[in-house]
Amino acid sequence: MSNVHVLDHPLIQHKLTYIRKNDTGTKEFRALVDEVSMLMAFEITRDLPLEDITIQTPVTEAVTKVISGKKIGLIPILRAGLGMVDGMLKLIPAAKVGHVGLYRDPETLTPTEYYIKLPSDIDERELIVIDPMLATGGSANDAIHSLKKRGATNIKLMCLIAAPEGVEVIQQEHPDVDIYLGALDEKLNEKGYIIPGLGDAGDRLYGTK
Ligand code: URA
Repeated sequence: MSNVHVLDHPLIQHKLTYIRKNDTGTKEFRALVDEVSMLMAFEITRDLPLEDITIQTPVTEAVTKVISGKKIGLIPILRAGLGMVDGMLKLIPAAKVGHVGLYRDPETLTPTEYYIKLPSDIDERELIVIDPMLATGGSANDAIHSLKKRGATNIKLMCLIAAPEGVEVIQQEHPDVDIYLGALDEKLNEKGYIIPGLGDAGDRLYGTK
């Protein structure tokens, strides 16, 4: 079973409340998503391996820590995933960024891949798939299958908000993928929206509706 980590840091929870509010406008919504993404990046990278190096401080030589080896790849699912990339890059500036485009049929809710462009060495990277809303789980599930098909072996999934239905899909299909959430909500409605959720993340990020 995948592990589910709800990142309940007070700052994340506080900002998520304002992200959810209907009267939060595009500019503020985007800024809050950026801030929450940065805070989530901090938590998600908690287990990165460290190694010792010897440095010279102004007063002495010292053995101190740096992050060892692990290279990170951020994989936002278009288009809403893009809204979380800059916040993460503030903490992980050397990460490479791949993109997966999936179109969700509004009637059947089935995802279809229309674009994929990845770093060439995804098999050597720890990949963080970014999908703000884990609703049916269809898009994230497909994206993770695509990455595995191309050689990825080390994948985490990061979402602002998830529905239990989506979490269950990822747990069943990808027991090796840890899931990091800002919140685990109640359910999906009949249109595939997360309840209480925040509405359509892409529309709210980009002011389209
Ligand atoms: N995608 C969204 O943007 N919002 C939802 O509630 C579900 C899927």
